[in-house]
Order: sequence, then C-alpha cells, then structure tokens
Amino acid sequence: MTRRILVTSALPYANGSIHIGHLLEHVQSDSWVRFMRMRGHEVHFVCADDAHGTPVMIAAEQQGLKPEELIGRMQKEHEEDLRHFGVAYDCYHTTHSDENRELATGIYGRLQEAGRIAKRSVAQLYDPQNKQFLADRYIRGACPRCGAADQNGDSCEECGATYAATELGKPRSALSGAELEIRESEHYFFELSACGDFLKDWLTTAAPGPGPGPRLQKQAENKLMEWFEGGLQDWDISRDAPYFGFEIPAAPGKYFYVWLDAPIGYLASFKRLCAERGVDFDTFLAADTDTEMYHFIGKDIMYFHGLFWPAMLREAGHRTPTRLFIHGFLTVNGMKMSKSKGTFITAESYRKLGFDPDWLRYYMASKLNDRIEDVDLNLEEFVQRVNADLVGKIANIPSRVARLLASQCGGKMAAPGASLLDFDAEELAGLYEARKFSEATRRIMAQAELVNQHMEREKPWELSRDPAHRDRLHRVCTDGINAFKDLLICLKPLMPRFAAAAEDYLACGPLAWSGLGQPLPEGHALGEFKHLMKRVSAKDMDKLLAANRSAPATAAAAPAQEEKGAAYADIKDFAKIELRVAEVLEAAAVEGSDKLLRLRVSLGKDGERVIFAGIKAHVDPASLAGRKIAVVANLKPRKMRFGTSEGMALAASSDDDGVLVPLFVDDAVPAGGRIS
Ligand code: MSP
Ligand code: ZN
Repeated sequence: MTRRILVTSALPYANGSIHIGHLLEHVQSDSWVRFMRMRGHEVHFVCADDAHGTPVMIAAEQQGLKPEELIGRMQKEHEEDLRHFGVAYDCYHTTHSDENRELATGIYGRLQEAGRIAKRSVAQLYDPQNKQFLADRYIRGACPRCGAADQNGDSCEECGATYAATELGKPRSALSGAELEIRESEHYFFELSACGDFLKDWLTTAAPGPGPGPRLQKQAENKLMEWFEGGLQDWDISRDAPYFGFEIPAAPGKYFYVWLDAPIGYLASFKRLCAERGVDFDTFLAADTDTEMYHFIGKDIMYFHGLFWPAMLREAGHRTPTRLFIHGFLTVNGMKMSKSKGTFITAESYRKLGFDPDWLRYYMASKLNDRIEDVDLNLEEFVQRVNADLVGKIANIPSRVARLLASQCGGKMAAPGASLLDFDAEELAGLYEARKFSEATRRIMAQAELVNQHMEREKPWELSRDPAHRDRLHRVCTDGINAFKDLLICLKPLMPRFAAAAEDYLACGPLAWSGLGQPLPEGHALGEFKHLMKRVSAKDMDKLLAANRSAPATAAAAPAQEEKGAAYADIKDFAKIELRVAEVLEAAAVEGSDKLLRLRVSLGKDGERVIFAGIKAHVDPASLAGRKIAVVANLKPRKMRFGTSEGMALAASSDDDGVLVPLFVDDAVPAGGRIS
C-alpha cells in the first residue's frame, strides 16, 4: 500500500544562521524521508523560515533593513546551506507568505466561530521611549526576591527566582534603556483550557494509520501531561503593534503572535507545493483523512507542537498531527555549543572548508535514535568514524576491486554468485522507519565488515597477478561490487551525495529499497571508477573550530585581528557598523589608567558622546581638541571602571611598532557625518 505522507522540520528563525544543531534535525528528517520514498511511499517534505516576531523586527532595525529585506536574505542563505547538506525540501517557503496569511486568518476565523477566542485586558510593561510593549527578554530590573539589580525579565541569575516581569523593581528596557510603565492592553486568547479532555486523549491514544510507534515518545507524553496538573491556561495569541507579523482581522494594531502562525506555516508551505504539483491539499487537511503528517522537532518546542497545535487544528475542524518525532539537543565535545570555544559551528563554515556533507550526515545518523536524548558531536570520534567506517569499510570495497575489474575483466560484471551479505532487509527497514538510525548503521557496518573479510581472504590484488586466476578474480570482483551495491542501498537515505556518485559508477540508475539482494546482471557494464570518499583529519577539525571561534573583544581601538583562515566578515556584518565623523570637544588622560584617554565628542545633530580610547601612550591629548576623528557610533555602551564608553574611536597602526594614530577625517566633513 502506498502511504501518503507529509513531513516537516521545525521552521528555523529568520534572524540567525543555520548551525550544526539545526542540521541534526534536518539531516534526521531528510534521511527518514529519503528512506520512506525508497520504500515507494508518496512523501511531501516541507519547511520554511519562521519570519515573524520581535527578534526579527529588531535584527532588521539594527541592520538598517526592512524586515522583508532581512527575511528575504536569510531565506536564501538558509536554503543554500540546507541544499548543500543534501536536505531536499520539496518546498522551502516563508511564514510571511500569502498562503500563510490566508491559512492563519482562516483557522483563526474557525476558532472564533467555535467560540474559542476570548478577549481580555492584560497589564504589561511598556517602553514609553520606543512606544512598545516589551517581551520578558527585553526587560531588566531588580529581582523581587533578593533585590539583585539588572536581572532578566523572567528569572534571577543570582537567586534563581522566577517571576512576572511586572514584579521587577525599577524595570528598564534593554532596548532603549528607558524606565518602563505598566499599561493595560486588550489581548486575544485561544481557550486551551477548554481542550483538556481532547488533549489528554490525543496524547495517550495510539496514532492512527499504518506507521509504528506511539503518538509521541513516552518521555514527552509525561512532560506534557504535567501541564494538566495545575489546569491548562488559555494561550495569549496576540501582540500589540509595532510587531512584524499578520494583523488580526477586525483588530487594528493587534498582530498574531509568531507562534500562532508558525506551525500554520507548515501547511502554507504544503499548500504552495500542492498548487505546484496538483496535489489535493484539502484531502490532507480533512479531519477524517487517511494521510499521515509527521513533525520533526527539538525537545524545546514540544509544548507548542503537543498542546497548542493539535488543539488549534482540532477546534478548527482539521486533522491533527499523526506523530511528533522529538529529538534532543546537539552538544559538541560534551558541551553546549559555544561561540568562544568555536563549537557554535555554522553550516556555512563547514561548507566553506569544503568538507563532505555526507561525513556529517553519516556521523549524525550513527548517533541518532528514537529517544529524546542529547546527541554529542565528538570531533575525535567524528574523524575516527568517518575514516574507519566510510573510508575503511564502505569506499574500500570498490577501491579494492574496481580498477582490477576495469583493467582485467573488461569492466563488466560476471554471473552473480551468492550474496556476501547476510541480514534481514525488512528488519533494517523497520529500524529506519522507527528512526533507530544508530542501530541501522551498526548493522550495515557489520555487513561491510563481512565483505572486507571476504576480500582479505580472496586477495583479488594477488589473483590479478596470475592470468590463470582470471575467472576467479572476475567472480571475486563481481561479488564485491554486488555486495557494495546492496550496502549502498542501505546507506542511500543517509548519504545522498555518495550514493549519487556510486550509482554513476555502478551505472545502475537510481537504486530503490526493493533492489536489495538483486545483483547486477551478467555482462552489465560499469561506469568509470572515481575515488568516492576522502579521509578527514584531526587538523580539519581544528580548522572547523578556528573558523567558528569569535575573537574576544579587546579594549584597544584597533579591530581584533582574526586568525588566519578564519571566516570573512561579509557585507551584512559590515552594514551593522555605524561609522561616523566625531569632533573632539575635550580630551583628557584618565587618572589611574595608563592606557585610556577620555574623549568628549560631538556627533553634530546627534549630540555628544563620551568615549574612552586606549591611546594615552600614543597621542598628546591637547593635540586632539578640535580635530575630527572616525568613530563607531553604534557600539553597545560598555561600562568601564572609569565610566561608560558610548562608542569606539578608530586608530591606525603599523604592524611593526604598534603605535596608534587616531583616524583623522577631512575637515570638510561636518561632525556627525557618515563614513561608508
Ligand atoms: N521557529 C521555531 C520553530 C517553529 S516550528 C513551527 C524555532 N526555531 S529555531 O531556529 O530556534 O529552532 C529550529 C529547530 O532547531 C527546533 O526544532 C530546535 O529544537 C532545533 N534546534 C535548535 N538548536 C538545536 C540544537 N543545539 N540541537 C538540536 N536541535 C536544535 O524554534
Ligand atoms: Zn534574586
């Protein structure tokens, strides 16, 4: 029976680059989709950028872009990164699309008709300077429990207390610095409280349809069930302007909260795909559909997918997800990814170093299973796995026989012998479908081991020296290639690039799962053999870390010099920096510091700034007054021992003597002028 399946990965936020943590998810879902397709099922695989919300709006502002421009750029970048890793979405869309607007307003309308939307007044902190309500993460203030100053909007780092932002003492905006006021505003709620019975049932009953396994992992079910203990709370689905998102119909100035239209974005991508492919979208969405829908997600977003999303779909009269496939987080060398350690590894850095994406895909698969455990990328183990398994066990098989076959046996297969492999293909398929990839790779490698042992015994490289052994050589090579072909079928969902190159060599067309155990026919002509897999080295891993290590900030005026081989700054990075002409009004040595001068400068219409510059040993302060220099005007203010520095003065130095000369700018440019 051909199953009809829709598969999604969580939508990456549009304000950040794809990193190796994201890739864990995309590699897992893509491999699963490739497997299910090899089994002959109809699978639609979609994703999108999650474009809405305050962080995107702020990131755009900081870069001097319209949100639409920022999300357009990011989507291109994301798509390119994912494609490079062989992650092949049928549609990669954006949540800021016509399809999504239509679907989100449609579902909201159905929820309204079902009487599940409530309107209530909410008291929240308001930034009078930026004229906006602030989310917790943009609020700082004194902890209501221990009084520690400058704490987060939701929890205290000193004493661990959690609280509402409105309880903070002297709350301030992390965006504008302004003191915040409490203001009331109307919000829209989805009445999750009315969905308790449905959700309990949904979480605990078997998933419908032919696939194996429960609705979601037991561990997740238990976690979600905890939410019922204190009674389900209604869900606040609106945000006040200014907000980047969809305005709520008949509610001017109110926008859908990003998490309302994000999962609907799955459907929007699919809808677009359906239009392109002539697939009937409504069949997939119908409450009584026999199609399947699977969401691959990380453990951090299971509440949205296991409570809000099924409840929303259900109340709107649509189907609900068939299963959630939840994974843990990726750590690197046993620790959370960190920018200073260089372990916050971006897809782009890996790509630019020219590393084989299938190395990473295979390594991740060798660690992934159906549980919600964190997955560690250990770089030493990575090198060892790739070299031992992919180079040493898999690619080794054709390397040992392909050239002999070509030079001594006319490049054609002999009559097939008995298979060198001995395993249950259906069992392996079961492991794949159940996402037990790690167990699957172990079994495949054990089979590869058998083939290599056979080669060791038969020694084709010795047989080739004596023409009397020509037939035996031909048999050994043929058996080796047929075994390789079967191993390739098993690995194909995990390693698309390798598989394509090997299929070229085998000249066999695209291999399907059903081809397992079916040898290439006698006389089949093989293609030209090319080396299939490079080794990786520990040095390569050092390069990867170096490319991702962000240089520590220095107090000196000169920009930090990146290590050799480190990534370029691109135009986006440059565009973030606001360079301005500043007139020095006053320059004085700072008492108690042997490095610093305190500069009071004018930015013309934009007022005055105080900047501390580490150039005391290099210039006479008296010579600076009245001069115009180049400054970075939008550097985050830095608290120093002697006061707060509100920018950075630029200076030039030659490499050999290290003397710093302030970057003076032409007198014809007035203070405040922009430098580009
Ligand atoms: N935009 C939301 C998802 C909306 S889905 C309707 C979001 N975006 S995200 O960019 O933060 O994360 C996207 C996916 O990547 C999530 O499933 C998240 O769990 C996963 N991961 C992000 N960092 C990760 C690791 N370090 N390790 C593994 N997965 C990680 O959440
Ligand atoms: Zn505290």
